[in-house]
Parts: sequence; structure tokens; C-alpha cells
Amino acid sequence: MNVGIITVSDRASAGEYEDLGGPALREAVGEYGWTVTAEAMVPDDLERIQQAIRSFEAQGCGLILTTGGTGIAIRDVTPEAIRGIMRVEVPGFGELMRMRSVEMTPNAILSRGLAAVVGQALVVALPGKPVGAVECLGFVRGAVDHAVKLAQRVPTSC
Ligand code: MTE
Repeated sequence: MNVGIITVSDRASAGEYEDLGGPALREAVGEYGWTVTAEAMVPDDLERIQQAIRSFEAQGCGLILTTGGTGIAIRDVTPEAIRGIMRVEVPGFGELMRMRSVEMTPNAILSRGLAAVVGQALVVALPGKPVGAVECLGFVRGAVDHAVKLAQRVPTSC
């Protein structure tokens, strides 16, 4: 599976802050046996996020992971960016990520992380904290292969 990783952060994209979320996700993706074929850093800007997702989808990424911008700070617009271009949302991903994460940190309820189908890709919006992003990907990982096949319209048995 070809995976695209997008770090959404004003400070990381301006070079003021080292991107730790992207590399942490790259390592997790490698452990799952998936291949990272595209990586980007964009500011917390709705159009820039949408452009990066569309570009990765056009390049053939079946799974696009974003990290950051899922909270309730004034610049957090990742969910709005994805909802603006998605075909359907898959609410179970966000539900499960929050349910499992609050067992570890009460602040996890602040994340509006989600998954959605954009074009022929599954987009999963993960929190910005590297450990949180990796944890959340782990919680939903079991459904990713099947969801990506459906997004890519590959015939499946169920
Ligand atoms: N989920 C997990 N599993 N682990 C975490 O540490 N951090 C939370 C939450 N989700 C966290 C988590 C915090 S502190 C915030 S503010 C929200 O994600 C939103 O983060 P974001 O705006 O960087 O995406």
C-alpha cells in the first residue's frame, strides 16, 4: 500500500520547529509493511491541506495520513479541510481513536481526528503529538486495508 504523510503545522512548515510527527508515522508505517511514497509539511491552512491531500491522491496514495490541526485551537482546521473535499466520512475511525486514547490521556477528547474517503484514497487525520498520532493509527490499523480497497474500488468479498 502506498502511503502519503502530511504534517500539518504552522511552526514545522516554517522551519521553527522540528517535524517529529512525520518521522514517527513513517516508522510506524514501515513496521506495518506499508510504503511511504509521499511526504509533505504544510501550515494550518485549509487550502494548503486540501492541495496536499489532492496531490497525494492523484499520485496514487491509497492511504493519506495527516498529523496535526485536529484540536480546537484557533488555527486547527484539518477536519474542515478534509470535510470540504471528502466523498464520505467514516465516523468509526474518530470514535475509536478518541475512545481508546482517553484511556491514556483525558485531553484526547479534544482531538477531532477522523477518517474520510477523498477521491480514491482513505484519509486519516491523526493528532499532532507524535506519540498520539502513532497510537491512534495503531487503534484503527485493523480496518485500514479493507477501507483502502473500498476507497480504491477494488472488488472485495464483503
Ligand atoms: N491522542 C492520543 N492518543 N495521545 C495524545 O497524547 N493528545 C491530545 C489529543 N489526542 C493526544 C491525543 C491533545 S493534547 C490534543 S490538544 C488533541 O489531540 C489535538 O491535537 P492536535 O491539534 O495537535 O491535532
